[in-house]
Amino acid sequence: MPGYRWGVTTSTKSGRDQVEKALELAGRYNVPYMPRERLSLSHLKADRGLDYLLTLDRDCHLFMEEPPLHWHPSMAIPRLRQIAAGKPDIFLTAAGLTSGQQVLDCTLGLAADALVAAWAVGEEGKVLGLEASPIIAAITDWGLRRETPQFDSKKTPLVAIARRISVLSAEALDYLRGQEADSWDVVYFDPMFRAANHQSSGINNLRPLACYAPFDQEVLTEALRVSRRRVVLKERWFSPLFKKLEATRLEKTKYGPVAYGIWEKERYTYDK
Ligand SMILES: C[S@@+](CC[C@H](N)C(=O)[O-])C[C@H]1O[C@@H](n2cnc3c(N)ncnc32)[C@H](O)[C@@H]1O
Repeated sequence: MPGYRWGVTTSTKSGRDQVEKALELAGRYNVPYMPRERLSLSHLKADRGLDYLLTLDRDCHLFMEEPPLHWHPSMAIPRLRQIAAGKPDIFLTAAGLTSGQQVLDCTLGLAADALVAAWAVGEEGKVLGLEASPIIAAITDWGLRRETPQFDSKKTPLVAIARRISVLSAEALDYLRGQEADSWDVVYFDPMFRAANHQSSGINNLRPLACYAPFDQEVLTEALRVSRRRVVLKERWFSPLFKKLEATRLEKTKYGPVAYGIWEKERYTYDK
């Protein structure tokens, strides 16, 4: 990752502030900054042989025009409202998160699950989100820092919750290999399904950019080594992985298509 070339520009009406921010973003990801100069996005892309361009507009929204992508909290808001109303959230049940815990979300995407996890671990806890696709990492990091105020409310204090999340543009297995044993309470995976899920338009927009690395024995072994309590995998309920990799148990809703496989650290001899 990535298998694409990308850069950063601004919208035609952006001022110096946006140019500085776009330059900083390009520098952080070591990709070209393309001065806009009233040129079309396709012209700029062709000029540097780029596949994708991120645009920062004059209101400091970061987005991609083609394919369309911007950060939004998607299901995090309704889920946080449900949780506030005392309803269970199956991801939280599976992860068993409590205040003060540290969570490694190995497949951050747009961070809906990370936001729910960050709510659960509270001010004393922390969440690190890994995202192998740098454009997705950049958009999500930007969104968590700068786009959350527009979604913030008393019931869903997204700004404060998002502050507990750090974003790292890294591939999960690479990162896990460099971590010490027992560094994170829970290590979580929500890999891409190979087939499009037509009910999940948010994820479908990520598809051309996303990482499709498999969740396999090697990844599980590393994740268990690095976890203190458990590894959790979100997959379709009929996935053969749960049986093949000997999940300790499954959590699933009655009607939903997904299930959460749980590998309890204490129950697993991960050096087999
Ligand atoms: C299904 S989405 C995750 C959605 C996320 N749980 C949420 O709530 O928004 C999977 C994301 O994980 C990323 N990803 C997949 N495999 C990865 C890996 N091995 N390392 C890092 N990121 C990965 C993909 O690029 C994609 O953005």
